Amino acid sequence: MTAEVTASAGVPRLSVQGISKSFEAIHALRDVSFDLAPGEIHALVGENGAGKSTLVGVITGLLQADHGHVLLNGTDVRFHNPLEARTKGVAAVFQDPNLFPHLSIAENIVTGAYPRKGPLLDLAAMRGLARTKLEQLGFDLDPDRLVAELTVAEAQFVEIARAVEPGLQLLILDEPTSALTPSEAGRLYTMVEALKAAGTTVVWISHRMDEIRRLADTITVLRDGQHVVTAPASELGDDDMIKAMVGRSVALQRVPRTEELGPVRLRVRDLNLAGTFADISFDVAEGEIVAIAGLVGSGRSEIQQAVFGLSPEVTGTIEVDGEAVRPDSPAVMARKGVVYLPEDRDAEGIISSMSITANIALPSIRSLSKAGFMAPRKERALAAGQREALSIKGEISALVSSLSGGNRQKVALARWLATNPRVLLLDEPTHGIDVGTKVQVHDMMRRLARQQRMAILMVSSDLPEVLAVSDRVLVIRRGRLAATIDIEDATQENIMAAATAGRVEEGTK
Ligand SMILES: Nc1ncnc2c1ncn2[C@@H]1O[C@H](COP(=O)(O)OP(=O)(O)OP(=O)(O)O)[C@@H](O)[C@H]1O
Ligand SMILES: [Mg+2]
Repeated sequence: MTAEVTASAGVPRLSVQGISKSFEAIHALRDVSFDLAPGEIHALVGENGAGKSTLVGVITGLLQADHGHVLLNGTDVRFHNPLEARTKGVAAVFQDPNLFPHLSIAENIVTGAYPRKGPLLDLAAMRGLARTKLEQLGFDLDPDRLVAELTVAEAQFVEIARAVEPGLQLLILDEPTSALTPSEAGRLYTMVEALKAAGTTVVWISHRMDEIRRLADTITVLRDGQHVVTAPASELGDDDMIKAMVGRSVALQRVPRTEELGPVRLRVRDLNLAGTFADISFDVAEGEIVAIAGLVGSGRSEIQQAVFGLSPEVTGTIEVDGEAVRPDSPAVMARKGVVYLPEDRDAEGIISSMSITANIALPSIRSLSKAGFMAPRKERALAAGQREALSIKGEISALVSSLSGGNRQKVALARWLATNPRVLLLDEPTHGIDVGTKVQVHDMMRRLARQQRMAILMVSSDLPEVLAVSDRVLVIRRGRLAATIDIEDATQENIMAAATAGRVEEGTK
């Protein structure tokens, strides 16, 4: 029997009924039921490992449920794979990128009904189709470029362009903005709102409160694989949403420092990188957490990267514990006890086919081995300690590939924290990490600074996070140090003012 997919009054666009899914002993989803209305933006939220991505897999046929049904416009559907789902108007952009890197953008976007010229593929027509689609969505991309050369954000746009097809009933976006800058995310919000206006239902998975508030009509919360609540966004306040996710109230809070700061650990003077930043000087003391704030593109991350030796052409001086170091390479800086956690954790290579233990222990191998022999018990103890501290959801012997996206992030964080560095450089330490764990990461940063006397230099776009954990805020504006604000005086407003001032007098100089 073939069912016509049409909307009729009162029938949910999608109805999830009693879905359960296990991976061996792990119950990723337990008897989950809720409805999605036609033409709504429906936020799906929950802690790392709550089961969100698993549900996306079940709906789109990437995974098969153990029990339960999915109804599309009132008709039972059980897709065998995401391609079949797409032919029925159900498309997803998955949390893990899913493109063919060695093909062009056009070849990735135009799948299924290829335009033909006689027996041959009509490449010009294909390019034209892709170009039109990208333009309609407001993405400025050349369809001939190879996917392997794209930034994470661009690849994300290509995936979206591929998913959006005529007759789209349901689009699922699994953490679509976690790698995007605010302006790129803004383009996505506009696109999603246009889809909604055209009657498409959108499922939006995110850990960002601000965008959930901005977009969502309805919110569904999952916790530990179970459905907790589905409610109109207007009826579920932030605090209630967080309570439903975490099982308790959570607030990002400043914890006043009682420990004295020690001597300067990281001293940076007159750092210059042509075309990127200039005249950057600052200190980070033993026990201190300094945040670098500023707009995306202001040079924040580049300053951190230069301090880690990733821009050998940089000029200026750097001292660690009073000793001058030339930041010629990461190896040089690592020998001085400087560790860097980049924003793009996957590129830095957590190794998915290895266990949590192996990943966490890897950078600490030297301190864990004795005369060249590994000490598995120490390795396991180290991993167990980090798993506990960051509440990583998964046994320490589990492969990283079996973890949820956010839990993989935690493993990446844990592996560097375990090396006990002198200077810790963190770029967006809690991206993709749920609100409950965020607070734990902040506690951990405070402990590392205050008790283990590390100097921490963090880049963060999350202003509540900056205000909660740092002792001092450096604000970068267009590659210059625009302000240094002591935490007692810092507010979201004065940080933003320092980050954006100067724009108005652009061109008057
Ligand atoms: N292929 C797999 N093998 C074993 N366990 C898995 C597999 N996929 C997911 N799991 C487990 O199922 C649970 C739910 O994972 P899921 O990826 O759905 O979480 P999530 O809500 O998307 O989290 P995040 O916010 O971190 O992306 C986790 O405990 C995870 O470790
Ligand atoms: Mg996920």
